[in-house]
Amino acid sequence: MSRSVPLAPATALLLVGALALTACDGGVHGTPGGSGLRDPYFPKAGNGGYDVTHYDLDLAYDPDAPDTTTLSGTATLTARATQDLSAFNLDLDGLDIRSVTVDGDKARWNRTGQELTVRPHDDLDEGRAFRVTVRYSGTPRTITDPDGSNEGWLPTKDGAVALGEPTGSMAWFPGNHHPSDKASYDLTITVPEGLQAVSNGELTATSTSGGRTTSTWHTAEPMASYLATLAIGDYDVRRYAIPGLGGTSDGLPVYTAVDPTEAAASQKVLAQIPAVMKWAQAAFGPYPFASTGAIVDRVGDAGYALETQNRPFFPGAPDTGTLVHELAHQWFGDSVTPKTWQDMWLNEGFATYAEWMWTEDHGGDSAQQTFDALYDHGDDVYEDLWDFPPGKPSSAAHLSDSPVYQRGAMVLHKIRQTVGDKAFTAIVQGWAAAHRHGNADTDDFTTYVEQQAPGKDFTPIWDTWLYGDGKPERA
Ligand code: TRP
Ligand code: ZN
Repeated sequence: MSRSVPLAPATALLLVGALALTACDGGVHGTPGGSGLRDPYFPKAGNGGYDVTHYDLDLAYDPDAPDTTTLSGTATLTARATQDLSAFNLDLDGLDIRSVTVDGDKARWNRTGQELTVRPHDDLDEGRAFRVTVRYSGTPRTITDPDGSNEGWLPTKDGAVALGEPTGSMAWFPGNHHPSDKASYDLTITVPEGLQAVSNGELTATSTSGGRTTSTWHTAEPMASYLATLAIGDYDVRRYAIPGLGGTSDGLPVYTAVDPTEAAASQKVLAQIPAVMKWAQAAFGPYPFASTGAIVDRVGDAGYALETQNRPFFPGAPDTGTLVHELAHQWFGDSVTPKTWQDMWLNEGFATYAEWMWTEDHGGDSAQQTFDALYDHGDDVYEDLWDFPPGKPSSAAHLSDSPVYQRGAMVLHKIRQTVGDKAFTAIVQGWAAAHRHGNADTDDFTTYVEQQAPGKDFTPIWDTWLYGDGKPERA
């Protein structure tokens, strides 16, 4: 009915105006996608107007390449337009673009800082699946984070390692580099014969010819780009399966790659992977990925460990606590991924609390004892423990500080105190299941906890432990 009502003249004029703005050569055209997703801590990370569903990365790396072109690659992204697009951005920091095509047609492109703007020959209608292929080469950069740590592409004595939290992955492949856009991956990497290349997911093929070795890694489960890794070098590789875990009759495939100089020091702790995985599955619910493992490089190859998907990265042999932490991230961070970097405490609070739980379950301090010690003396060890609340880090420079880790874990312990052990386990497992392979933010979490424990009042916990300034009262 309302459709047949004639437009009031003013409305008609407005409509004509709007059409005039978007119509140029006959058709109705799209508009450019946003150059960032307005993340509260990294506003330029990611891009608007499309969703990536798959990355196909075909790379070649030669640390001894005669010129400065150590890396060359073709990145093919399969994506879906979420608006009518006349242009869209990818994030890429450094490297040289050779060509860009969209659905096989040459596309115009230009670069400003980390923003690579692609203008396809034809506009892309909302809902349309498209493929963008970027050919590029150069020597990838090491990026210094706002917190002073190095990420991106890190050259090592015998190769390199790529680490991406929070924005380093744009140093080695173009993409939608924000945790909210997860995708599956296929990565093919060619290196000089004698070197190994290890990535996420499962190794599906290797072949050597003409002095070069090519390996193909497949990641079927959605992965945030900051969790993508590529470690190139000389590694002792071990492959086995953990019976009783995972979807195959042999069990869950394990792939570990250890720098030979770290092999002796790593042996004992890596032998704990099956026990940690079984314990974690009992604590957090079904393991979300098709394989597990670890990459151990040399101390100093990076300044920190990282929960790279399937296969956490460690600079030197980790201790058991760090192994537990990074494997727990596979549930919390890698499967349930933050919507924005403000939600980082959901990663680090859970991974830190996992360490407390492991200690409690293996004859050490109870989580309550760990909590009490932190409450009473924590700021002797972590000077900044009470500097800001986990739910609202003071700036990007402080995202990896102790309020996000230790005080984040304290939020979880306050929930456990409120609901009791049994209900807490159900909440932890229910949360991991509810957002498995997805994204969630802090509001999703507080709402979930409240729904799971009707009749309990969590407001004081949220107001003080999660969002309040300063050291909360003990009660
Ligand atoms: N997430 C890593 C861990 O828990 C630590 C880390 C590495 C980090 N790089 C970071 C945290 C950048 C925040 C920002 O082991
Ligand atoms: Zn962590």
